[in-house]
Amino acid sequence: MTQVTRATLNEGEQIFELINIWAGRGQLLPRTLGEVYENIRDFYVVREENKVVGCAALHITWNDLAELKSIAVLDEKHSNGYGKMLVKECVEEGKILNLSKIFALTYQPQFFEKLGWKQADVMTLPQKVWNECYRCPKFPACEEIAVTLDLN
Ligand SMILES: CC(C)(COP(=O)(O)OP(=O)(O)OC[C@H]1O[C@@H](n2cnc3c(N)ncnc32)[C@H](O)[C@@H]1OP(=O)(O)O)[C@@H](O)C(=O)NCCC(=O)NCCS
Repeated sequence: MTQVTRATLNEGEQIFELINIWAGRGQLLPRTLGEVYENIRDFYVVREENKVVGCAALHITWNDLAELKSIAVLDEKHSNGYGKMLVKECVEEGKILNLSKIFALTYQPQFFEKLGWKQADVMTLPQKVWNECYRCPKFPACEEIAVTLDLN
């Protein structure tokens, strides 16, 4: 049975390639290989026969808040429930960490809404704005939609 597990260091390049397929289509923010390795402990993967076919990262941004980042599934593996499994694993970890909320910035809000997330104003996520958004050339005219899931 296909499962979601923690990424291993030797999967960094596959994760990098998967994210950047979607970044090239404007659906995800690009990540460098260095950023993937620096954050490898945030990543979960779905594998089929040792090949990474899906990934997602849970990145802590504050004492009660984390961002679900870089969720991607290979084209030919869509609609197998892998995206949903990856979100579920991140949410489970968020609960273990006692987070109040998880958020994501996405062009696919309906995917998250199907899983019970709600659209939100990014300005209600000040930690995100302070940490990253101010450095983004698109700020404040960001086209990504913030979605959040309350955990308590
Ligand atoms: C979004 C993405 C991760 C979904 O992965 P997936 O493995 O195909 O999703 P799942 O099979 O787990 O789908 C779970 C549910 O969400 C629905 N769904 C999947 N993608 C959707 C989308 N883009 N919009 C609306 N609903 C979507 C599915 O129909 C399914 O519904 P069901 O439970 O009623 O059958 C995948 O399309 C992807 O890699 N997209 C490119 C990267 C991206 O946009 N990432 C999200 C932005 S951060």
